[in-house]
Amino acid sequence: MDKIALFIDADHKTTQNIMESKAFTVSIADVPNMAPADFFGIATGNKMPDKFARSGCTAVRSEFVNAPVITDFPVAIECELAEEINTPNMHAIVGKIVNVSADERVVGDKDKILPDQVQALIFDQYCSGYYAVGEKVGQAWNAGKDLMKAES
Ligand SMILES: Cc1cc2nc3c(=O)[nH]c(=O)nc-3n(C[C@H](O)[C@H](O)[C@H](O)COP(=O)(O)O)c2cc1C
Repeated sequence: MDKIALFIDADHKTTQNIMESKAFTVSIADVPNMAPADFFGIATGNKMPDKFARSGCTAVRSEFVNAPVITDFPVAIECELAEEINTPNMHAIVGKIVNVSADERVVGDKDKILPDQVQALIFDQYCSGYYAVGEKVGQAWNAGKDLMKAES
């Protein structure tokens, strides 16, 4: 409930920055920010020192962790570095979530984030498409409950 794992390569500039600062934030990319979100994925700070400035985005220092929060994106998950996992088969960064900040327009009752307001992008690895998260189609821990009663 309070952890997040990033499966990012050890040689990325992002990874080196996280190992130095021991903290990071994860922004949810949304439809209006598709261009900078994609740019963050295709440019590397290892070869482009002004990568962030070129994105046209704005960042402020997180009040909770030693990392920037991009103010253009609707949701930011603010994390302390919990663990780096490096095995022959995977490299992952695990963060402990200490705060989530969000635009008021995507926050509903009881401070819950409303996915249908976020317009989050999903990356499709089959055809390299970006898709917008759309309508709610069901309720988790509920959609399959009738099968729990089914006779075998
Ligand atoms: C849509 C998309 C998804 C990506 N997903 C990952 C990923 O899951 N793990 C990873 O290590 N790199 C991923 N990449 C590649 C990195 O974002 C890319 O190597 C980038 O240049 C790293 O930047 P940095 O060196 O400034 O951190 C992805 C790129 C794109 C465009």
